[in-house]
Amino acid sequence: MSDAGRRVLVTGGAGFIGSHVVDAYLERGDRVWVVDDLSSGRLANVNPEAEFLEMGIQEPALHDLFRTVGFDLVSLHAAQIDVRSSVGDPARDANINVLGMLNVLECARETGTGRIVYVSSGGVVYGEPEEIPTPEGAPKLPLSPYGVTKLSGEYYLHYYRAIHGLAYVVLRYANVFGPRQDPHGEAGVVAIFCERLQSGEELIIFSDGEQTRDYVYVKDVVSANLLASEMVLKPGANIDAVAYNVGTGAGTSVNRLADVLENIAEVHPGRVYREARAGELRHSTLDVSRFAEHGWAPRYPLEGGLRETFHFIANQKIGA
Ligand SMILES: NC(=O)c1ccc[n+]([C@@H]2O[C@H](COP(=O)([O-])OP(=O)(O)OC[C@H]3O[C@@H](n4cnc5c(N)ncnc54)[C@H](O)[C@@H]3O)[C@@H](O)[C@H]2O)c1
Repeated sequence: MSDAGRRVLVTGGAGFIGSHVVDAYLERGDRVWVVDDLSSGRLANVNPEAEFLEMGIQEPALHDLFRTVGFDLVSLHAAQIDVRSSVGDPARDANINVLGMLNVLECARETGTGRIVYVSSGGVVYGEPEEIPTPEGAPKLPLSPYGVTKLSGEYYLHYYRAIHGLAYVVLRYANVFGPRQDPHGEAGVVAIFCERLQSGEELIIFSDGEQTRDYVYVKDVVSANLLASEMVLKPGANIDAVAYNVGTGAGTSVNRLADVLENIAEVHPGRVYREARAGELRHSTLDVSRFAEHGWAPRYPLEGGLRETFHFIANQKIGA
């Protein structure tokens, strides 16, 4: 793949993480197209220098776009991302995350796309892991339809590489947070806490708050995407050979997260503890040493990222 001025497609590029990835590719001199159906993304997130198409990844018209442009790189961020909605409607989840993804992969195969960067989830594909921090080679026993569809994407890619020679990298994200995350959604505890603190509302915590997650700042996720799009690939025999955890290696409890955000906000509206939600993991932290061997490392300390996120959401409220 030639290094400069690549033709890049980012599906889900109007969403929280995808829109930051779009900005970074434009910044490095690539031409960028965004395909997004705006089901959870926002037009306001899309960089005006990108070509935007309001389209579902499962639509047949996607083939025309691939034939017309001929992409060097395709970043797969579009997905149904809600674990609980996947439990409530597994067929809808599979329709987007499996059939939609297959449509993209068929387009890529037909038109000889240079590389796919696929976004999987280190928070769900391992299920309730025995080893923490969890390395890529740990057993993959997802406990939700969303986890199953994310993992099945990795297996489809393995097939497309083995049989059709399609090059790819998988990034298994931990819990990503940062500006543009939807504070009104079900996921994204950081954005939800920021929003509630700014409205003076108490924080709702499920279980005792001692459950831990690996919170990684979106700017570190962006640098992981840039590396994944350029690194030399050494395909191996199984799905883990080209899959990299993207987290910090450190677990943070929900109570600790609330402490830090309350201090940033300089308000303490109180906390309400509710019964643990069914199926929620107790602990999840990713071992990121394999991606570190390729030169990637998370560089943003948790508190700095939380501060930037808090102020972004505050400014949005002022602008609204
Ligand atoms: N946020 C996290 O902590 C996290 C963790 C692990 C993995 N991921 C993955 O990262 C990716 C981005 O997630 P996010 O947090 O930015 O969520 P998001 O909801 O902000 O982004 C998803 C984007 O995809 C779009 N989309 C959804 N269905 C589509 C479809 N059928 N066709 C076209 N566009 C569609 C949405 O409109 C949205 O813009 C997803 O693949 C998600 O599974 C996120």
